[in-house]
Amino acid sequence: MKGIILAGGRATRLFPLTKITSKQLLPVYDKPMIFYPIETLVKAGITEILIIIAPDYSGHFLNLLGSGEQFGAKFSYAVQHEPRGLPEAFIIGQDFIGNNNVTMILGDNIFDQDFSQDIKAFKSGGMVFAKKVTDPERFGVVEFDQSMKALSFEEKPLKPKSNYAAVGLYTYDNQVCQIASQLKPSARGELEMVDIHNTYLKKNQLQVKVLDGFWADAGTFDSLLAVSNFMAQKTKSS
Ligand code: G1P
Repeated sequence: MKGIILAGGRATRLFPLTKITSKQLLPVYDKPMIFYPIETLVKAGITEILIIIAPDYSGHFLNLLGSGEQFGAKFSYAVQHEPRGLPEAFIIGQDFIGNNNVTMILGDNIFDQDFSQDIKAFKSGGMVFAKKVTDPERFGVVEFDQSMKALSFEEKPLKPKSNYAAVGLYTYDNQVCQIASQLKPSARGELEMVDIHNTYLKKNQLQVKVLDGFWADAGTFDSLLAVSNFMAQKTKSS
């Protein structure tokens, strides 16, 4: 299982914080944000990790993270020149992935959850996680039937069909590179993760698991503050 951390984009929603560095390097309590997704992958047993970054502050990432040795991991780096959508990571990362399975985590997604059992048990197809939220319209949303079987995914729907957001940790088998390379941009001009989920779902090859543990996408001022407070509490009580 290879790992990818996608830490691209311009994060204009966090201006002026992100006028001087990348969102994924901003502090979340006592650490740079990207330490959390790195630790989530390493804890899950994934140590060969490709970090995909925007060109602007690529040197900051190299200075901070280096070879990965301090995390017990081996890092490679690639540049995403334009934010053309998350699935582009599987096109940029195709050589790195080779014939392996891959888990991608978004560089601004913070979990308090041990995924090692799920990753170990993964054989083929795809595996994604859904978390109940109060603001589903901000995310990819999963529609479930009465038995909690996933029916479809929609990206940032105006009228969400459930309160379950698809969180930014995705495990796929090797088909994902080819699926990503055949996607067409959505109305907002980006390749969309929900189109990959829906492709696996149609083939009946997607597991959708409900996530109980803490999760936050730290991409807004309010969520950045909330996740910093959560981590401060957790650190002080441990
Ligand atoms: C992305 C995905 C979305 C997912 C979210 C999780 O949205 O497109 O499906 O629910 O990450 O954080 P973004 O945060 O890039 O707008």
